[in-house]
Amino acid sequence: MTADATTPPYAPGRLPVVGHVMPLLRNRLAFMQQLRGHGDVVQIRVGPRPVFVVNAPELIWEMLTAQSANFGKGRLFDKLRLFGGSPLPVAEGQQHLQRRRLMQPAFHRERINSYIDMMSTTAETALRSWEHGARLDVLNEMQLMTQGVVMSVLFSSEPERGPAQSIMNSVDTVFQAAIRRAVAPVSAWENLPLPGNRRLRAANALLRRTVGDIVADRRTDPEPPDDLVSLLLDTRDEDGRPLDDEEILSEITALLAAGSETTAVTMAWLLHELGRNPDLEERLHQEVDTVLAGGRLTADHLPRLVLTRRLVTETLRLHNPGWIVTRQATVPVRLGTALLPAGADLVWSPYALHRDPGLYHDPLRFDPDRWLPDRPQPARGAYIPFGAGKRMCIGDGFTWAEATVLTALVASRWTLRHAPGTTVRPVPAITVHPSSLHMIAEARGTAAAREAA
Ligand code: HEM
Repeated sequence: MTADATTPPYAPGRLPVVGHVMPLLRNRLAFMQQLRGHGDVVQIRVGPRPVFVVNAPELIWEMLTAQSANFGKGRLFDKLRLFGGSPLPVAEGQQHLQRRRLMQPAFHRERINSYIDMMSTTAETALRSWEHGARLDVLNEMQLMTQGVVMSVLFSSEPERGPAQSIMNSVDTVFQAAIRRAVAPVSAWENLPLPGNRRLRAANALLRRTVGDIVADRRTDPEPPDDLVSLLLDTRDEDGRPLDDEEILSEITALLAAGSETTAVTMAWLLHELGRNPDLEERLHQEVDTVLAGGRLTADHLPRLVLTRRLVTETLRLHNPGWIVTRQATVPVRLGTALLPAGADLVWSPYALHRDPGLYHDPLRFDPDRWLPDRPQPARGAYIPFGAGKRMCIGDGFTWAEATVLTALVASRWTLRHAPGTTVRPVPAITVHPSSLHMIAEARGTAAAREAA
């Protein structure tokens, strides 16, 4: 360490005892964004606990890449050790590296292309249930669609709507409980017969039963389908040991959680932007009509859906679902001039980074054309919707494919307009989701046809 390294300054607005809890409760998105004005790394207090917010893009990049060996995922993730297993988003060190290597093949490009048919079928089925003139809760519709997609890819077939819904409700209960436990000051209440603990036990039991049954059936299937569950069952660790049922269950639960809500929220924001930018929507309709030409969407169409992809890119910039990503220093570290002790909690915010006026011209404007190849592209580390380095999202390619497919399929049939009286604001919960997004579905061509008649 050199002499100029210092403990990062406090962000203004700290109160005795509660620290920065008030602005975090009042408007945490605005709070996280204004922190960049107070230093490359600033210190905030969440109650008694110091948390270091890394604002400078080059230091975020350094933490995630060159210095990644000095950081673990942090306190939140300790509580996400599900069913006794440490699934990929939670595993640390050698175990993480090994598990990542084992699961990577399921997320290779050719493999993802082979999922596109399943993605389309799931989306088409959901879209058939929409009715002309219906008022849709768009976030809910997108959740059902992305849950269906991830389940169909994991299990080769989508479970019936009822069981699928109970699986996802249980995944949600398990994760909400884990997060409550991570932020709770004491853990003594975790075993008390409280309603929340009872709900958690019921959700765990349901997941064990339903997912456990699917895995048990698969173990005895003489011709198992080529899906993610089969891949997990075939997986061997370095000693040649297969994953046991607990590990498979925890990995499946983690993928269901990590792989559905984030994409659903992204899709909801994208449809919100299209709803208030009719010119953009018109251009999208033209692209989709030309490329698909009324046929079924396949992997071959994807490279030609260029505006569709730019819409996804811009949505992942302006409306990134992650408002906070955590790390914990495992040794004393230095980031720029900031000196941090071993055990320090750090966070960075994809949401704030992607709205930095120092990195993007007119950053609050939704403009997919900023991603045209002849426009200046952001500097390294300025656009990292999926993180970076060894812990970068394993599902990034999956998401690009899925969001492109879903956008193109919605656009090929439907126009969505905000329902009267709908005001949308971002709500930072686990992801940054729209507060309430009700839109009216209009079958494409219908209005034109009516006018022509
Ligand atoms: C809009 C969609 C998505 C976004 C914005 C997103 C974002 C992220 C981010 C930022 C990370 C890194 C967290 C960190 O550095 O601590 C991550 C990790 C992860 N994501 Fe995603 N994700 C998305 C979709 C998906 C999908 C579709 C899947 C799976 C089907 C998935 C599975 C995972 C897993 C397993 C990890 C942990 C990787 C590891 O630690 O090695 N994600 N995601």
